[in-house]
Amino acid sequence: MEIAKTIQSVRSLVKAARSKSKKIGLVPTMGALHIGHISLIEAAVKQCDFVVVSIFVNPTQFGPGEDFEKYPRPLDADLKICRKTGVDVVFVPTQEQMYPAENLTWVNVEKLTELLCGQSRPIHFRGVTTVCAKLFNIVAPDVAFFGRKDAQQAIVVRRMAADLNMPLEIVICPTVREPNGLAVSSRNKYLTEEQKKDATLIYKSLQKCREMIDDGTTDSETIIAEMRKILSQAPSIEIEYISIVDAETLHNLDKIAGKALAAVAVQIGPARLIDNILMDASKK
Ligand code: PAF
Repeated sequence: MEIAKTIQSVRSLVKAARSKSKKIGLVPTMGALHIGHISLIEAAVKQCDFVVVSIFVNPTQFGPGEDFEKYPRPLDADLKICRKTGVDVVFVPTQEQMYPAENLTWVNVEKLTELLCGQSRPIHFRGVTTVCAKLFNIVAPDVAFFGRKDAQQAIVVRRMAADLNMPLEIVICPTVREPNGLAVSSRNKYLTEEQKKDATLIYKSLQKCREMIDDGTTDSETIIAEMRKILSQAPSIEIEYISIVDAETLHNLDKIAGKALAAVAVQIGPARLIDNILMDASKK
């Protein structure tokens, strides 16, 4: 496994692989790798011949007062995981490599980024799409892999790639959960054991949503009220939003008919956690 610290070095490693007609996969990450990332890497190793994992805590997607400084950066453990999972190159650029000067050029996907998490994190998705566009330009992958836990991110990045005719496929992989249902996230590290227990209510509320839809409830307001009751069982949970939206446009649905995304964002102690499930109410 190679560790590339510069744009030039990752480009020349990818160029050599491409000259052997290898299919290039990219797993963009901010490090602090966990089983969710491992599942993305495994999908990349399965579907591609040459896998690049990027590790870069991207400052432009953190708003003022967010956790950029304290975001975990366990590089040695991350490299170990990459070695074990069959990664070919880990791209670990410095901030100076990625943003050598004041950034004046931004990639912004409109509308989709103003909803759900975009309401409380107004610059977040602009930072994500800009850094992803940069990584796609640097690595030039055939396929890039994202997790469904960050459903809005995956939908936004897919839309950016389509709208800008980027020559790559975006693969969205299933959310990985702890045995108790809690979606695996680097930010779970911020939680105490008690808060982790409270956090399991997030998935319980999403399961309730699925159950109600399976039982024939189509009214979002009724479902959201039940989800709210579940989340309110833990006083440590501050609900940011509970939404049931169209899985493509992310617009709120009053009545649930076809493909819908139920999405939750909460604050528990120091951690802002998100989770979602995708449902198809037409398939019952
Ligand atoms: O999901 C993440 O870890 C980040 O948002 C990403 C896609 C690596 C961009 O910095």
